[in-house]
Amino acid sequence: MGLVLGALSLVLISILGRILFRQIWRPYAITNDFRKQGVTGPSYRFWSGSIEEIKSLKKAGSDLILENDCHDITKRVIVHYREWIPRYGETFLFWIRSEPRICVSDVQMVKQILSNKSGFFHKMEVPPSVLSLFGKGLVLVEGEEWERHRRVVNPAFAIDKLKLLTKTMAECTKTMIDAWLYETNTEQDRRKEIDVAERFQELTADVISHTAFGSSYKEGKEVFLAQRKLQFLVAASFLKLTFPGSKYYPTKNNLQKWKLERIIRNTLISIIKSRLDSKDGSGFGNDLLGLMLEASRVQDNELLSMNEIIDECKTFFFAGQETTSHLLAWAMFLLSSNQDWQERVRDEVIEYCGNEIPNPEMLSKLKLVTMVLLETLRLYGPIVLLGRKTAKDISFRNINIPKDTNLMIPIAMIHRNMKLWGADANEFNPLRFENGVSKAATHPNALLSFSIGPRACIGQNFAMLEAKMVLAMILQQFQFTLSPKYKHAPVDVITLQPKFGLPIILKPLLV
Ligand code: HEM
Repeated sequence: MGLVLGALSLVLISILGRILFRQIWRPYAITNDFRKQGVTGPSYRFWSGSIEEIKSLKKAGSDLILENDCHDITKRVIVHYREWIPRYGETFLFWIRSEPRICVSDVQMVKQILSNKSGFFHKMEVPPSVLSLFGKGLVLVEGEEWERHRRVVNPAFAIDKLKLLTKTMAECTKTMIDAWLYETNTEQDRRKEIDVAERFQELTADVISHTAFGSSYKEGKEVFLAQRKLQFLVAASFLKLTFPGSKYYPTKNNLQKWKLERIIRNTLISIIKSRLDSKDGSGFGNDLLGLMLEASRVQDNELLSMNEIIDECKTFFFAGQETTSHLLAWAMFLLSSNQDWQERVRDEVIEYCGNEIPNPEMLSKLKLVTMVLLETLRLYGPIVLLGRKTAKDISFRNINIPKDTNLMIPIAMIHRNMKLWGADANEFNPLRFENGVSKAATHPNALLSFSIGPRACIGQNFAMLEAKMVLAMILQQFQFTLSPKYKHAPVDVITLQPKFGLPIILKPLLV
């Protein structure tokens, strides 16, 4: 009995020791170490770190409804960065539970982090639920694994291959526009309110299903629907305090997650298998999956396994669909509330495309449309925050940062920094991009919507091509204004989106 009690006390002491070390001593030592180097931040609280403060700031932000002409979304999203940067400086320390995070918002430091090729900075570790959403594809792999994946995926995004996809993009857009024409023309005054954010979700899902999976796009869309449901479950679990092993409990949420994960995996396996079986002399097809399968097989060697291809497909869906859909929604919001710009870009579209379906050459001439999209990305970029983790102990701009420290880059704050963008940083002014992205601000890398460096977005040309095509085709057919029902409440659910949708009043241009 005495022996058992002795062993039990030893176990208890060791657990207590670990808790004291991780939850009290380590945060105290790290805080002290950074303070000596001039990096301060909100105080650490036992167990929860800065989470409670973040929650209360977020809560206050999320209750706000902004004026339609207020583009400072940081009043609602990443509110803690907005609060803490003026208080603690561009580089500060805060805590997610007992895990330290350093905010880096000096753009030169950001450039050094994102451009580093020596493996000093890795992607942050993500919870298993996010992994199941994204797949361990290009977005999340590192080192040699990343090089291998990028080699296989790159050919599918070459500009000549993308140009071939514009026809598919135009066909999907035409289906949406025909439906809008039908809906408006059946109204007496030919004006119809439509939630375009919702329609863009369908459109971009259609485009990615067709461009990624060609003839199997219907099954592809099933994957999309399941992924979208999974995304909401994952986002809801982000700031929840969890207990060890809780991801294995058969809770209602977990059971739902596991079911969705099974649907996604099984559908993708079936699409890929049938593609592999149907290979003919000309290869696996000209869609993204076909081009990826082609590049993954070099002289009978498989560069990517079945599981890795499944993960890349998940990545295409998540990285490519949501983001582009929200870019389109925010561009429509800005053009609806800036009628002068709507007229200017429509004139440009009519000048270069007339009433024809735009082709890649026509799209490349649409300079004003491009400027509007870049300004939309600056003010309402779908990704508001980037994260990295130090892979070794490093000394960076005179600050010693220990291995495994998470670095947070608040893009939405950098995009509003008046030192970079001028006094009108919070205003919609596409003309700032007149001389190109690198001349729009005082630093050439101040626009971070697609990130920069080796891990920059592989799909940025795809997204810009699709967005230009869709906007041009809408401008050719419709005049549009913001519905009085619209409530300006941008929200960050992994990507930045209008919380209550985007009701727009559409009116066809031609009688
Ligand atoms: C408006 C649309 C888009 C935005 C704002 C966007 C934004 C980004 C950003 C910020 C990153 C870097 C993430 C990081 O460094 O942690 C990224 C990476 C990536 N994006 Fe996009 N993206 C868009 C569209 C697309 C599309 C259409 C695709 C594919 C169909 C795509 C596929 C990817 C992939 C695969 C990566 C990882 C690249 C790598 O690490 O090598 N994205 N994107």
